Amino acid sequence: MNVQTIMVVGAGQMGSGIAQVSAQAGFQVILSDVKQEFVDRGLGTIHKNLSRNVEKGRMSEQEKADILSRITLSTDLADGEKADFVVEAVTENMAVKAEIFKKLDAVCPAHAVLASNTSSLPITEIAAVTSRPEKVIGMHFMNPVPVMKLVEIIRGLQTADEVYQLTEDLSKQMGKVPVSVNDFPGFVSNRVLMPMINEAIYCVYEGVATPEAVDEVMKLGMNHPMGPLTLADFIGLDTCLYIMEVLYEGFGDSKYRPCPLLRKYVKAGWLGKKSGRGFYVYN
Ligand code: CAA
Repeated sequence: MNVQTIMVVGAGQMGSGIAQVSAQAGFQVILSDVKQEFVDRGLGTIHKNLSRNVEKGRMSEQEKADILSRITLSTDLADGEKADFVVEAVTENMAVKAEIFKKLDAVCPAHAVLASNTSSLPITEIAAVTSRPEKVIGMHFMNPVPVMKLVEIIRGLQTADEVYQLTEDLSKQMGKVPVSVNDFPGFVSNRVLMPMINEAIYCVYEGVATPEAVDEVMKLGMNHPMGPLTLADFIGLDTCLYIMEVLYEGFGDSKYRPCPLLRKYVKAGWLGKKSGRGFYVYN
């Protein structure tokens, strides 16, 4: 199948990044969200990232203009009728994703692949709400999408081999390195990353060390680019909690219990960088 148009559903930090790398790879992109202000903000982020590339001499003004000209904005999922490939990147919530996949299944052409950027939810379950489970696949990008090389590709129970191949090829065209993973809670990335972040939160909860000290240990001691609590703020504490819940419920193992301090912060609305406060304060 020859993919020309990619629709990205969800214009937040992940969706806008996916739209950017898709447009940079030469695809026509429809960036969609429920409100105009959300798609405008997503486009604004892309604009800023591309401008930085121009300033750094990595891209010409003309290339930037060409990339932006390939992106159209939408607040109507019915625009999926123009898409060959869809990447859903909305909030980590099965009910919300199921609703979107049902709608996409109804409006997208029969040949269109429906991919989810879910970071932990079962692809097989998402696929089951559609009439095309063989064309549903997980395509999990890392944050910040324009910078991070990895795409975890997750086959659902019924995902067709040619759909896997197409998704792998697209990831490479976007300059990413695809890694194949099976459909288990948290896949590989979050099964390994989130318990580490959760354990770092326990260190603060139990008074082992301050957030600054925990982050310093992991940065200077393990050469991580950012400490786990800074990273948690960057990902979003609500997302971290949700993924821990998925692991806890999916494996039924107490080693995945979310730290009570994480729950408390999320209940307080301390969601990390996006809300201005998490383990650190942001202006
Ligand atoms: N969007 C686009 N580009 C960005 C960016 C963003 N949000 N943030 C940083 N960059 C770019 C910068 O422009 C810079 O590029 P140049 O040097 O070429 O201009 C480059 O990244 C490095 O940035 P900085 O020098 O400002 O800062 P840094 O060296 O600390 O790097 C970082 C920033 C790349 C984010 C680095 O801190 C890092 O790798 N952090 C860990 C990221 C990580 O673990 N991501 C995975 C999160 S988990 C996930 O996504 C999965 C999930 O399901 C939850």
